[in-house]
Amino acid sequence: AAAEKDGYDWFMRKEIFEQPRAVADALLGRRDAEGKLQLDEMRIDASELQGIDKIIIIAAGTSYYAGMVAKYAIEHWTRISVEVELASEFRYRDPILTRSTLVVAISQSGETADTLQAIRHARAQQSKVLAICNTNGSTIPRESDGVIYTYAGPEIGVASTKGYVTQLVACYLLALYLAQTKNTLYGDEINGVMDQLEAMPAHVQTVLDEADKVYQFARDHVDTKSVLFLGRHAGYPVALEGALKLKELAYIHAEGFAAGELKHGPIALIEEGLPVFCIVPPKGRDQLREKMVSAIQEIRARGAATIVLAEHDDEAITPYADEFIRLPKVPVLLQPLVAVVPLQLFACELATAMGHDVDQPRNLAKSVTVE
Ligand code: G6P
Repeated sequence: AAAEKDGYDWFMRKEIFEQPRAVADALLGRRDAEGKLQLDEMRIDASELQGIDKIIIIAAGTSYYAGMVAKYAIEHWTRISVEVELASEFRYRDPILTRSTLVVAISQSGETADTLQAIRHARAQQSKVLAICNTNGSTIPRESDGVIYTYAGPEIGVASTKGYVTQLVACYLLALYLAQTKNTLYGDEINGVMDQLEAMPAHVQTVLDEADKVYQFARDHVDTKSVLFLGRHAGYPVALEGALKLKELAYIHAEGFAAGELKHGPIALIEEGLPVFCIVPPKGRDQLREKMVSAIQEIRARGAATIVLAEHDDEAITPYADEFIRLPKVPVLLQPLVAVVPLQLFACELATAMGHDVDQPRNLAKSVTVE
């Protein structure tokens, strides 16, 4: 079993470190000789996609948080409105579905019952269903009109890591493909984003190279009862994912918030010494960034212990950071691919230090095949 884990203590840790390769594989062979995007396995014709006027993304757990990131990218690049909904809520609220609605089901396993029932409902209402899935031949892609596979390779750890980052890649690819089909971006712009995506494996690796620092303060926090996560824009779903990882693995209270909502309630939770992860948007996005910085100042003034994830040269942030996790320079829409990595490392190491089984957390299953 140790051999299967490549010398790592947990499959999860091994899978975290496989992410540069997983992201590269998810991007492989997506551009043809002319530089146009091709999603061969998708099976839905470009002509069918041209008429799409609404997208509903459905998913559960970590896949749902990938869907939340996708909304920012798809709406920005394609101007098609996107709703993101928990699969377990979807069909029970009688959603509005038409022939021009594209339903995107994100599922690592392809077997989640909530998600499967949701796509059955969508297809019964004549909507097109596209699966984003990691498992070849699983039920959800088989029952969908088309599929984009994520090519992460088998994921064994119950808490999703490489599954999640490759879902993000697939969502970006879908967004760019729709932009190509609907002519909402120029070919040059699409190729520019593709180049940035192809640089991501190296960026993820630089974050992994700093793992020891994250491990150290995870071990420093082994008595922590509660952790908060703050983000804005595409960093907001990353905050939610960081909190989910801690709940799943460390069994402690953890919550993610949109930083702008802090003043509307969560700030009342801040007390002396409470660890708060803060995901700071890139410097190029100053409006977002400055609001995030003032949120960090607010919580620090109230005694929070801030763990700040920001661009490596964002020196202006250092006075407010009890811990500074340096991120590579990437566009805000792609930042989740790098920002999630320290949060995964933190949860994995904290749970290890607490003596929990990281690969088989209590009460959880890798794929939940009951509603
Ligand atoms: C379970 C797993 C989660 C996962 C969720 C959705 O709850 O424990 O890690 O995110 O299912 O799984 P899926 O395979 O549909 O992405």
